[in-house]
Amino acid sequence: QPPSSQMEEISLLRRSNCRSKGGAPGFKVAILGAAGGIGQPLALLMKMNPLVSVLHLYDVVNTPGVTADISHMDTGAVVRGFLGQPQLESALIGMDLVIIPAGVPRKPGMTRDDLFNINAGIVRTLCEGIAKWCPNAIVNVISNPVNSTVPIAAEVFKQAGTYDPKHLLGVTTLDVVRANTFVAEVLGINPREVSVPVVGGHAGVTILPLLSQVNPPYSFTTEEIRYLTDRIQNGGTEVVEAKAGAGSATLSMAYAAAKFADACLRGLRGDAGIVECSFVASQVTELPFFASKVRLGRSGAEEIFPLGPLNEFERAGLEKAKKELAGSIQKGVSFIRK
Ligand code: NAI
Repeated sequence: QPPSSQMEEISLLRRSNCRSKGGAPGFKVAILGAAGGIGQPLALLMKMNPLVSVLHLYDVVNTPGVTADISHMDTGAVVRGFLGQPQLESALIGMDLVIIPAGVPRKPGMTRDDLFNINAGIVRTLCEGIAKWCPNAIVNVISNPVNSTVPIAAEVFKQAGTYDPKHLLGVTTLDVVRANTFVAEVLGINPREVSVPVVGGHAGVTILPLLSQVNPPYSFTTEEIRYLTDRIQNGGTEVVEAKAGAGSATLSMAYAAAKFADACLRGLRGDAGIVECSFVASQVTELPFFASKVRLGRSGAEEIFPLGPLNEFERAGLEKAKKELAGSIQKGVSFIRK
C-alpha cells in the first residue's frame, strides 16, 4: 500500500489525465496572480467550472493558503499551488489556458496607463515563461493597461518564435458585463436578456459601447446614449473611487474573467457559435490590435467580426478611441523592442 501522499498523487494524476485518455472533457487552466483581489475569486469560479480538470494557482505570495482553501471544494478540478518564479515552470507545463490577473491595480486618481511601469515588466516575465513552457496555450490577459499589455505579450511571443495571434486574447468582458447591466437598468429588464457589443480597447474613451447594436434592439434618446456611454467608459473608475484606495474591481472582474475563460474552454471543446468581445490582433481597423466580437473555437480566436454599421455618435467615438489606442499599442511594442 503506497503512503497516503503517494496515493493522493496517483489519484490526482489519474484524474488530471482523463482528457488525454478520452474521458470526460477537462482542460488544464493556470491562473497567474492567483492570490490577488481578482485571482482568488477567479480561482473559486474556475474550480466550479466542470470543464476544468486541473487548476494551477501561481503567485509570488500566499498561494499555499489560497490553494489549500480552494482545494477543499468538492468539485472535479484538481488544484495545485505554485509560489514564486522558481515554480513558474511547473505551474505552466501542460496548460491549455493561462489567465493573467497579476499586477498592481489602480488607486483613486490613477489611469490604467499609470500602472504601465510595474505591470509591463510582470506581464513580460510571465509571457516569457508561457513561451517556454506552454507555447500552445490560449492566453487571457487581464493585467492593465490591457491596451498595452496585450501588445507586450505579442512581442514577447514573437521574439520567442511562438506567437500565434489566435491564442492571445485581452479580457474586455467586464466592459460588456457593465454595459449589459447599465443598459438593462435603463430598459427595466433582466441584464441576462441584454447583449451590448463593446469594441475598441479597455481604458476610458477606447471603451466604445455600440448601443445602436444592442440586442434586443432599442432606440435610445441622445440623453440616454450620453449617460450610458459615459457610465460604461467610467465603470472602472466608479469602483476605484468607491473602494477609496483599496483597489479596483475584483469581484465583478473575476465574474467577467470566469465567463470569458468558460467561453474559451467551450470553444476549445469544439462548441459552435461561441462569440465574445475581446482585444485581439485584428484587421478590423488600421490598428494592429482592436477589441471586437470574436468567434472562439478549437484554435482560439478563429474569426474576428467587423464592427457593423455605426451611427454618427459611434463613428466620432471610434476616431477618438483609435487615436488613444494607437499610442497605447505603440507604448507596449516599444517596451519590448527598445
Ligand atoms: P491585486 O494587487 O489584488 O492582485 C495582484 C496579484 O498579482 C497579487 O497577488 C500579486 O502578488 C500578484 N503578482 C504581482 N507580481 C506577480 C508576478 N510577477 N507573478 C505572479 N503574480 C504576481 O490586484 P487585482 O485587483 O487582482 O488586479 C490585478 C490586475 O488586473 C491589475 O493590473 C488591474 O488593473 C487589472 N484589472 C483588469 C481589469 C480588466 O477588465 N481587464 C479589471 C480590473 C482590474
